[in-house]
Amino acid sequence: MAGKVPTRSPTHEDVPIGRLSSMGLELEEIAEGDEVAIPALVELAEDRGRPASHYLAAIPLATELKVHSPGGIEVRVCAGNCQRYGALDLLDHLVERFGKRASFGIKPVECLDQCDLAPACELHGAHGKLLLAPATAASLDEALDSL
Ligand code: FES
Repeated sequence: MAGKVPTRSPTHEDVPIGRLSSMGLELEEIAEGDEVAIPALVELAEDRGRPASHYLAAIPLATELKVHSPGGIEVRVCAGNCQRYGALDLLDHLVERFGKRASFGIKPVECLDQCDLAPACELHGAHGKLLLAPATAASLDEALDSL
């Protein structure tokens, strides 16, 4: 449920909103229409010396943009409060996987209504919807390999 939090303590810090806002402006400069391509986002993040996940989190939290999807399965990752429970690590893992094989879409979102099971992800595709919460890099890999 939105607004709930896991009973365990946060393990990570979230990116301050002021920093997300300035990253949002940088993303608007590299956007094509209302979409940002992952390779362009990764290049921007490398240029600025920040993790790609921070820019991905800025997309739903500080812009009206979306990430360009190559089609196939769409992985929705909560980049809201789930940041405090490792969501950014999941996003960086997905970017790394995308770099090897761009066969799925990454969609960072503000909340997936599974806040007490953070970090939350959903895989949408022909199979319907698969919820992973709490998600791990290993459970994401396993789901993406099997779908
Ligand atoms: S903050 Fe609600 S699911 Fe992540």
